[in-house]
Amino acid sequence: MISNLPKHVGIIMDGNGRWANMRGLPRIEGHKRGAERTRDIINASLDIGIEVLTLYAFSIENWERPEDEVSVLMDLLYSYLSEEIIDMLKEGIKFRMIGDRERLPSHIQKLIEEAERITAGGDRMTLVTALSYGAKDEILRTVRKIIKMGIPEEEIDEAVFESLLDTHGLPPVDLIIRTSGEKRLSNFLLWQGAYAELYFTDTLWPDFTREEFISAIQDYQRRERRFGRVLTDSRFYK
Ligand code: IPE
Ligand code: IPE
Ligand code: MG
Repeated sequence: MISNLPKHVGIIMDGNGRWANMRGLPRIEGHKRGAERTRDIINASLDIGIEVLTLYAFSIENWERPEDEVSVLMDLLYSYLSEEIIDMLKEGIKFRMIGDRERLPSHIQKLIEEAERITAGGDRMTLVTALSYGAKDEILRTVRKIIKMGIPEEEIDEAVFESLLDTHGLPPVDLIIRTSGEKRLSNFLLWQGAYAELYFTDTLWPDFTREEFISAIQDYQRRERRFGRVLTDSRFYK
């Protein structure tokens, strides 16, 4: 399990609504079950030695969902995060949020700031929550920052751009996992995932287990990442 580990894993946690529908339950029951699943996957990531785990919890497009679903999701996020802060601290997890925080209710913004501050010294793993997050929005916000800072055109390169993204300081995402059978990125880490390996599974997020997570990592470990180059291994290079 040790060699060729992805440093940064991103997960598009999809399928909560369908999980609930299949059981004749309200969608929110699926979200509750989904929130419980994240604990297992965070623990598995700690055990495996993943450096950065990014969980896509709420997209910028998700604001367009019915108001009652959005408000229950916000309540769930609030209670989940307030319950987890102390455990994150104990486990050595550094918490970080990416996305447009200004759009979040102020009590959630405050809690996020508190969680980021309290866990800032965490050195075992960084847990990034993508909330009110859209990659296109993140890129646009970055462009605006560059203009505002008056950075000269010739100084703008990938390193400068990356240093101003929400994910500044984090390694690029190596592996993106999406549950629920949908095969799309839905505006997740478009810049950071330029060379990510993709793993799709039909499993709905509330059914996603530690075992399946581990097999996604193992699948990644068997892949040959070329980054546009030609392999120098004699089996391939003639
Ligand atoms: C993912 O589950 C959670 C969020 C997007 C907040 P969905 O709510 O998208 O579930 P499905 O895709 O409708 O099944
Ligand atoms: C992506 O799921 C966002 C999250 C999992 C938070 P969606 O369910 O919102 O994406 P689409 O609408 O199927 O693309
Ligand atoms: Mg969905």
